[in-house]
Amino acid sequence: MAMVKLNAAAAVVLSLLVVVAVHPAAADAGGDWYGKKSIEETVRKEVEKAIKHNPGVGAALVRLVFHDCWVNGCDGSVLLDKTPYSSSTEKAAANNIGLDGFDVIDAIKSKLGAAVSCADIVVLAGRDASAILSGGRITYDVGTGRKDGVVSSAAAADAVLPESTFDFAQLKDNFASKGLTQGELVILSGAHSIGVAHLSSFHDRLAAATATPIDNTYASALAADVERQKGVQHTDNPAEKNNIRDMGAAFQSAAGYDAAGVDTAAVGALDNSYYHNNLQNRVLFKSDWVLRTDGDAAADLAEYRDNATKWDVDFAAAMAKLSKLPAEGTHFEIRKTCRCTNQNYYY
Ligand code: HEM
Ligand SMILES: *[C@@H]1O[C@H](CO)[C@@H](O)[C@H](O)[C@H]1NC(C)=O
Repeated sequence: MAMVKLNAAAAVVLSLLVVVAVHPAAADAGGDWYGKKSIEETVRKEVEKAIKHNPGVGAALVRLVFHDCWVNGCDGSVLLDKTPYSSSTEKAAANNIGLDGFDVIDAIKSKLGAAVSCADIVVLAGRDASAILSGGRITYDVGTGRKDGVVSSAAAADAVLPESTFDFAQLKDNFASKGLTQGELVILSGAHSIGVAHLSSFHDRLAAATATPIDNTYASALAADVERQKGVQHTDNPAEKNNIRDMGAAFQSAAGYDAAGVDTAAVGALDNSYYHNNLQNRVLFKSDWVLRTDGDAAADLAEYRDNATKWDVDFAAAMAKLSKLPAEGTHFEIRKTCRCTNQNYYY
């Protein structure tokens, strides 16, 4: 899987890193006191280094914000490893399949120590990954001062995180339960312009009898590539790239991909290409496609397809809101290491 990710985004990220480096001021907007600024600089440097080494980890860091903040609020609960006392932390949740980026969080924590919580690091790292993968177009401010929680449960994560098989009403309710609007559901789903997904997350879309509408040529090219990837990745549940834009030319030709209007040079970029794909029935998840089934959501899809800048701006604002979901627990601390609580015990 690491190999798939590396190839996916390598080209764009290497060029984007240069662009970002020319505009260091973007991360400094807000004129924060020196401590916060130096924390932000350290996070930025580590995230840049990590993405340069493995472009796929950028997508993982963006997803990590969603999966941490959705469950108990932004409290670092998603980072906790199992212990002899708590064998089933959020990491074991079915809906957390493929979750990654933990090593990057650890590396940042080892640089910053007690100065910053793990919850803040997740939010800061996801913000920087968004900026880097978008070539500096997506920037937003996130406060610091979050505390780390001591609760982490796989069952709770599976109860709260949306599933790729959800229909539109389920997705809308799920977002409403966290105070996010239908518009924000459409905006944040655009994060699926980057990264990868396992077969188990989209196999329903390849089964002719049950599939929600998917472009026929895309579906058959995917089915063929899945069989090939089983051998390459040595697993019955291989990962595929979320974005047809990031697939090779042979795949795109077999899938009848129409790149008109999409910036095809931007392999691996976090951008509005998801909306082009969705309106061509070339997205992986049912939860992506069902956004077409609601009139208002479908109009939003078209608007974001047609106005890349609007999506950048609205995505930044929605990520900022996501990053502020308040921690829901009653006991908090600043962890010494992000993978376990200071008592090494979870509640
Ligand atoms: C709307 C409901 C959502 C559903 C049902 C959903 C579902 C999924 C699933 C099933 C995967 C693939 C997991 C795997 O098989 O490995 C995935 C990947 C991903 N999701 Fe979502 N997601 C949703 C919303 C979001 C949001 C709000 C964000 C970001 C803020 C996001 C960012 C990502 C990213 C970046 C990946 C790729 C991760 C990687 O390559 O490591 N998703 N999502
Ligand atoms: C695209 O969206 C931006 C930001 O909302 C807006 O300023 C601009 O006028 C829009 N462009 C078009 C062509 O509608």
